[in-house]
Amino acid sequence: MNLKINSTTTLNNGVEMPWLGLGVYRSTEGEEALKAIDAAFQVGYRHIDTAKIYNNEKSVGEAVRNSNIPRSDIFVTTKLWNDDHGYDNTLRAFEESLKRLDIEYIDLYLVHFPVRDIRKETWKAMERIAEEGHCKAIGVSNYLSNHLEELLAACNIVPTVNQLELSPYCFRDRQSTVDLCRQHDIRLEAYSPLTRTVKFDDPALLSIAEKYAKTPAQILIRWALEEEVVVIPKSSNPIRIQQNADVFDFSISKEDMETLNSLNENFLVCWDPSREP
Ligand SMILES: NC(=O)c1ccc[n+]([C@@H]2O[C@H](COP(=O)([O-])OP(=O)(O)OC[C@H]3O[C@@H](n4cnc5c(N)ncnc54)[C@H](OP(=O)(O)O)[C@@H]3O)[C@@H](O)[C@H]2O)c1
Repeated sequence: MNLKINSTTTLNNGVEMPWLGLGVYRSTEGEEALKAIDAAFQVGYRHIDTAKIYNNEKSVGEAVRNSNIPRSDIFVTTKLWNDDHGYDNTLRAFEESLKRLDIEYIDLYLVHFPVRDIRKETWKAMERIAEEGHCKAIGVSNYLSNHLEELLAACNIVPTVNQLELSPYCFRDRQSTVDLCRQHDIRLEAYSPLTRTVKFDDPALLSIAEKYAKTPAQILIRWALEEEVVVIPKSSNPIRIQQNADVFDFSISKEDMETLNSLNENFLVCWDPSREP
């Protein structure tokens, strides 16, 4: 794909979402988060991924308001935490996130995890949130094909996005979920795309990085873009934030994508939603 740092994908409801975003999990509220987001905006990022559970929504909102960038040029995602599922709780949790962020509206509100039994009720409230106008798009996170099939059978609004852990080290294991999302025009979004650095020493990854004169991090981010997956690497370090965006001057050949995808080994650094019935 021929992309630039602020290139967007059109979601299934017409909303534009930047392909690259900054993840802020473990960016501490206050100076650390503010500095990271400011550095990202200076480099050209226009998309921030937070969640209630990250405890930094206030800083995300402050950074957006202080940025001097038009609100409509910035895309902010936040997420409904597991303790807040259920119809009334979801409506309340959304209002609280919106208040903490204090940015007029939320671009994308995601169900963070498919909590058993109660998630159907939750989605009804998500649909109401989408209809009421303070949220541009709703979606899910950590939904595998069984969770999605259940939702698709009952929903009035199809999720715009499914955010889940994706890297060459787990992509093939998630093929049925990937296929279902593509079939229903649900945009895939990769969290922990850098494997939290665990795979940076993998010789196969290093050899491809060397071939393209890029870092392992840049190869993993570009891999996601080649798979048409939105990608949200996290860093609190301005230099690494800049490096992680330096992925728009090359593309990975089909052959090397096949090599990367052959690294699949059911490797996850975060939680495993296949345990959730
Ligand atoms: N929906 C979900 O359930 C879920 C779960 C996990 C994550 N997420 C989202 O996805 C985002 C990204 O995932 P993640 O934070 O788990 O992991 P990640 O992006 O794979 O890795 C982040 C780690 O890599 C380091 N790093 C970043 N760029 C680097 C570079 N160029 N060179 C060396 N080290 C580098 C960071 O340290 P420094 O900060 O020191 O650079 C940090 O320790 C999160 O921040 C969050 O927004 C969502």
